[in-house]
Amino acid sequence: MTDADVPVAEGISDDAFFALDVAGRLPSAPAPQRRTPEQRAAWEARTRGFLDSDPGGSWVAEQDGEMLGFATGYRREQVWCLATFAVRPGLQGAGIGAQVLDAAVAYGSDLPRGMLAASVDPRALRRYHRAGFRLHPQLTLHGTVDRSTLPAVTGVRDGRPDDLAWMDDLDRVRRGGPHGPDHHRLLAAGRLVVTTDRAGYAYTNGRVLALLAARDEDTARTLLWECLASAGDHYEAAHVTSANYWAVEVAMTARLDLVARGYLGLRGMAPPAPYVHHGALL
Ligand SMILES: CC(C)(COP(=O)(O)OP(=O)(O)OC[C@H]1O[C@@H](n2cnc3c(N)ncnc32)[C@H](O)[C@@H]1OP(=O)(O)O)[C@@H](O)C(=O)NCCC(=O)NCCS
Repeated sequence: MTDADVPVAEGISDDAFFALDVAGRLPSAPAPQRRTPEQRAAWEARTRGFLDSDPGGSWVAEQDGEMLGFATGYRREQVWCLATFAVRPGLQGAGIGAQVLDAAVAYGSDLPRGMLAASVDPRALRRYHRAGFRLHPQLTLHGTVDRSTLPAVTGVRDGRPDDLAWMDDLDRVRRGGPHGPDHHRLLAAGRLVVTTDRAGYAYTNGRVLALLAARDEDTARTLLWECLASAGDHYEAAHVTSANYWAVEVAMTARLDLVARGYLGLRGMAPPAPYVHHGALL
């Protein structure tokens, strides 16, 4: 994939994921929406960031000059991550995905660890299983926070640029690699909350929990409560594996709903904890 391919890849991914979201909408969740121009621009900027850090990590399938599908991936020290994988609706299930995924996976095959966030599409799950990834079921915690359940949270503050170094060290422990250049994408999308003792951090935007990493479960609970305290009408924390049952306990106390949704695909590692990964920046 080159810079010039990015807008077409964005269109394919919006079409493919919108169709999947419509088919699998949660009963009490807002109706799926197409990406806004701002979200499209953010998707493209993030993907260009992957091409900058990892020019050999993203692949497209073409026929007669037309893009049919793509896979984007990147390396962060000991871990390879898959960011996005999509084939044009109508052309899925015909072997195109296998070709781009194999190329993307090969780019990280010398690294000891691999991570990807899998949708519920059975075609994706077959591909990931066959690429050697173990699929760990995830919960999505979602709904309206019962504000009467909120505890008084202490020991947190907004994050600053000088926090990124210890956050990267924590990511090395939790997943085998720092978020490095990905932090500024996460910062652009929301608020960074850290604990004053530098034991954990979370990115949140009032609607979704984007990422959370902590040294211990007490720290993780404190951070999640802080995110819930600043939530709007509907909040969602997706990508919660059973290794992170502390998050289920908090969500149940806050009277959120639970639903099983998607999988964390891993190679060479167990589900990280306490850790709630980001779908593309993992
Ligand atoms: C996931 C996706 C990229 C895979 O690309 P693809 O071109 O459809 O994949 P392939 O045809 O190479 O492989 C699909 C596999 O599922 C099987 N399959 C095809 N249709 C299927 C169906 N309806 N149900 C279950 N399995 C199916 C195929 O036989 C193949 O498995 P096999 O190689 O073991 O025989 C594509 O389907 C897609 O864009 N889905 C929507 C977006 C998405 O979920 N992306 C993944 C994000 S994590």
